Amino acid sequence: MASGKFITFEGIDGAGKSTHIPFVAELLRARGLEVVTTREPGGTELGERLRELLLHQKMHLETEALLMFASRREHLAQVIEPALARGAWVISDRFSDASFAYQGGGRQLSRDKLETLERLVHPTLQPDLTLLFDVPLEVARARLDAERTPDKFEQERADFFQATRTEYLRRAAEFAARFRIIDSTRPIAVIQDELRGLIATL
Ligand code: TYD
Repeated sequence: MASGKFITFEGIDGAGKSTHIPFVAELLRARGLEVVTTREPGGTELGERLRELLLHQKMHLETEALLMFASRREHLAQVIEPALARGAWVISDRFSDASFAYQGGGRQLSRDKLETLERLVHPTLQPDLTLLFDVPLEVARARLDAERTPDKFEQERADFFQATRTEYLRRAAEFAARFRIIDSTRPIAVIQDELRGLIATL
């Protein structure tokens, strides 16, 4: 049996990825596929508890990176790997590229250390497709929900997000075979047309 595919959604906070996840999941379900949508940090009971800590508690940078990958380890074992093995398609709201972008780009943890964690947690698995929702910083900031109390990351300064975005774009160039950069400044309907085309080619 054909195994499922692994699609990840990435981008800085406010880039708009959350709007498009249900749309892509529906496109796939309409083709009769089993689709699992999930998120990081989180996706499991333990992962969601780690998410609470990660989003609200100040901690050492390496502790933050370790907990991101700890949550990911659990997520792979409990959700992602079993789903792919039974032929389901998995859509994850963020995965390891977020650790490279936020902890690496934003917080300047060395790529070497992050690659060590990546090798430990998923030595071979990579997403089949990574959709990077990209917008200039000012656009992303304006989109952040003004009603909601910002979490630890959303409270970061502009230069943090600039560095995070730069690292996302650098990775998109380095791993061009699996990345697609989605210009997220465009109207939702235009982005959806592009997504429809991308999914058809998968
Ligand atoms: P996010 O996915 O933006 O969810 P919401 O839409 O509910 O705010 O929030 C997750 C935050 O965690 C986001 O600011 C990025 C951060 N993050 C990392 O710093 N490293 C990681 O490895 C992951 C998965 C997320």
